[in-house]
Amino acid sequence: MRAGDEAVPATGQVPPQAEFSPPFLPARAPKRYTLFVSMATMRDNTPERLVSAVRADEEQGFELKLRPRRLGEFIGQSKAKEQLAIALEAARSRGEALDHVLLFGPPGLGKTTLATIIANELDVGFQQTSGPALQIQGDLTAILTNLRERQVLFLDEIHRLQPVLEEKLYTALEDYKLDIIIGQGPAARTHVMEIRPFTFVGATTRPGLLSSPLRSRFGILLRLDFYTEEELRVIVERSAEVLEIPVDRDGAAEIALRSRGTPRIANRLLRRVRDYAQVRGSGAIDRSTANAALQLLEVDAHGFDEIDRRLLLTIIQKYDGGPVGLGTLAATLAEEEDALEEVYEPFLIQIGFLDRTPRGRVATRLAYEHFGIATPGRQVGLF
Ligand SMILES: Nc1ncnc2c1ncn2[C@@H]1O[C@H](COP(=O)(O)OP(=O)(O)OP(=O)(O)O)[C@@H](O)[C@H]1O
Ligand SMILES: [Mg+2]
Repeated sequence: MRAGDEAVPATGQVPPQAEFSPPFLPARAPKRYTLFVSMATMRDNTPERLVSAVRADEEQGFELKLRPRRLGEFIGQSKAKEQLAIALEAARSRGEALDHVLLFGPPGLGKTTLATIIANELDVGFQQTSGPALQIQGDLTAILTNLRERQVLFLDEIHRLQPVLEEKLYTALEDYKLDIIIGQGPAARTHVMEIRPFTFVGATTRPGLLSSPLRSRFGILLRLDFYTEEELRVIVERSAEVLEIPVDRDGAAEIALRSRGTPRIANRLLRRVRDYAQVRGSGAIDRSTANAALQLLEVDAHGFDEIDRRLLLTIIQKYDGGPVGLGTLAATLAEEEDALEEVYEPFLIQIGFLDRTPRGRVATRLAYEHFGIATPGRQVGLF
C-alpha cells in the first residue's frame, strides 16, 4: 500500500519529518523496498482516483505537515478522544506506561495521527513499524529489546503481522518478557529476557482479521468513525490555515461535503481546489470556486470512490437492489468479504445508501436517486 513505511522495519528515534525517509533504511532493506514498491504500484492510488481514502505516496510530506500533534488539535471522534484522554491522564498520574491501544477503522481517519499524539501527550519516544515490514524474528526481538522505558511502539497494519511474530509478541505485551531461543537442535535453550514496560499501539483497517488472543492483549480499543460534514469543515479550515490558503466557511463546507467522511480526502481535495482557485479564480476559495473545481475534477456530490459506485450499481443492476449476500457480492466485485465489510460498506451505510439486513445487502432509495435510476416498486411488507 505504502512503499515508504513498509520498507522500514523500525525507524528508531527519528524525528517525525524523517519518519519514512530512505537514509534510515537498514542495510538489508533495499531488496524489500523494491518488492513493496512494486506491490504498491499494483494496488495503489492512481492520481485520478482523487477520492480514494488510501494515501498516495507523494502525499507523505504533506500529511506530516497537516497532522495534529496534540489531542486538543485532533478534531472529532469525541468518544475515542474522551476514552483516550482519561487513560492518558491516569497513566500520567500513576507514572506508568499507558495500557496497549488498538486503533481501528477505515483508511485516512487518523489512526497514525492518534498514535503519534499518544506519544506526544505522554512525552515519550515513538517508534514505528508495520506488519508487512517485520519479516523475521530477529527484527522484532531487536525492536523490543531496545525499547526505552514507557515509550510508544506503533505497529501499523497489524493484521498483516506474521503469525509466528504475533505469538512472540504475546508475552512481551503481557509480562514485558521475551523468550529467546539460543542455539539449535538438542542444544537449544530458551532464555527469558526482560523488556522495559512500554505502550504498544496497533492500527488496522481490518480488525476482523485479528486473532482473539492478540485482540485480548489490548486494554484500550479505539474505533474511529467517519467524520461529520461539520467536523470535516473544521479540518479543512485548520489545514487551510496551516497551508496559508484563503478559504471561507462555505468553500470549506463544499469541500467537506465531498470528502467521504475522511480527513485524508478532505486535505487532498483542498490542495486540488487551491490549484484551481489560483489558476482560474482569485486565489481564494469560496463556495462557487470550490464547486467549479470539484466539478472539473469529477468528484461527485458524495465523493464516491470507484468501488463505492461499483458496489451500489452491482446491487442495483445485477441483483435488483438486493438483498444480496456478502459472499456473492464480494465474488462479483472480486473483493475480499471483510474488506467490503470493514472498509467500503461503513461509509455507504452511514450516509444511508446501503442497508445490511439478515438476508443480505440492500441498496436504498437514496442510492437509486443518486444514480438517477428509478426505484423498482418494492413490495413492502412481503417478508
Ligand atoms: N481528527 C483529525 N483532525 C485533523 N486532521 C486529521 C484528523 N484525522 C486525520 N487527519 C488528517 O488526515 C491525514 C490522514 O490521517 P492518518 O494518516 O492518521 O490516517 P490513518 O487512519 O492512519 O490512515 P491509514 O489507514 O491509511 O493508515 C493526516 O495527515 C491528518 O492530517
Ligand atoms: Mg496510518
